[in-house]
Amino acid sequence: MTPRQLALVLETSEEVSTPFYVYDTDLIRTTCRSFRNLPWPDTNIHFATMANPHPRFLSIIREEGLCLFVNSMAHLDAAFAAGCGPGEVVYAASAMDESTMEQAHRSGIRVILDSLGQVDAWRQRYPASPFGIRCNLGTMVHARRTRGGYFIGPESRLGLQPNEIRRLAGAPDIEGLHLYAGTDICDLDYFERCYRTLTAFAHFFPGLTYLDFGGGFGLEDSGGQPFDLGSYGRMLVHVMEGACSAAGRHLRMVIEPGRLIGGRAGLFVCRAVDIKPVGAQQGIGVNASSAQFPRPLLYPDSAFHPVWILRSGRVVSGAEVPSCVFGCSTYSRDFLSWNCRVPGVEPGDLVVFGNAGAYCAALYTRFLGFPPAAEVFS
Ligand SMILES: Cc1ncc(COP(=O)(O)O)c(C=O)c1O
Repeated sequence: MTPRQLALVLETSEEVSTPFYVYDTDLIRTTCRSFRNLPWPDTNIHFATMANPHPRFLSIIREEGLCLFVNSMAHLDAAFAAGCGPGEVVYAASAMDESTMEQAHRSGIRVILDSLGQVDAWRQRYPASPFGIRCNLGTMVHARRTRGGYFIGPESRLGLQPNEIRRLAGAPDIEGLHLYAGTDICDLDYFERCYRTLTAFAHFFPGLTYLDFGGGFGLEDSGGQPFDLGSYGRMLVHVMEGACSAAGRHLRMVIEPGRLIGGRAGLFVCRAVDIKPVGAQQGIGVNASSAQFPRPLLYPDSAFHPVWILRSGRVVSGAEVPSCVFGCSTYSRDFLSWNCRVPGVEPGDLVVFGNAGAYCAALYTRFLGFPPAAEVFS
């Protein structure tokens, strides 16, 4: 835990006695700026609101000059409330019904369609309105299973297969090609393979103006190295140069980072109440529920959050023991950490989870009856 993180937690815990998230606003801003410095000259960065739709979070993103990516009408409203104009919002979803399509069209945002059926429905209703298509890539790349499953390849339910994309070749109303390779990826070679495969379709579409490479940026690789945005930027320039020469015109680039923008900037904080053995582990019962910090509930095998214990204003050090952190409900799967190593904990200690700024507060569920945790921006 950094001295700044420690100070943020202690300051906030003086004011808030219930479980809370605290966000390091400066860190969110710094990350936004690194994305804005990516070297392709014509780039739009659209923060993926599903990672954290808190109004204050979105206003910070907007102050840093980012646009928004949304996948629901509620988040579209949030994007407009955060001051986005229609040209600053990308909307991609699947199985859009008539009313959703109508709202998306009326609002004038950029829409990405997910299937040939959705393309037909859009064209019938709005023949003069261009759109983007989500490209699955099929077997053109060896798709990877990432957190949450497959987002491309034969096992993925999302996007148009290569033969479907080819059937649309020559269509003048397709303005964008969209790809989302997967989530929590640090392997730049994998991104590059996927991106280059997408660009192979660029010359099919005479009305193409942009390529949207989606998000998927991991916080750190298995060796603990943070995502290498510098090398990523250099790779993008090569890919975009190739795409523009294949398409025979200049193309804009869009990306949709979610997790990496605020993931590290957030901490979740609760208090130890009851310590008891759980199997061979130190069981740490806290005054919070996984309903308030749900990633370990949804991704029990892969949600990794560092855990720190604070006592009397300091991080507790010393011999670590295998531990789990369990919530204050009766639900048998109410764990905030299934498996961690921390020193001996005492009732009253603060229990702090790192990497909690993305897909944490946003996943809150009313199941079990606990209120959403407070969210504080420092
Ligand atoms: C289409 C699309 N774009 C962007 C994102 C954000 O991705 P990440 O948080 O992995 O960067 C998602 C997340 O699922 C997505 O589905």
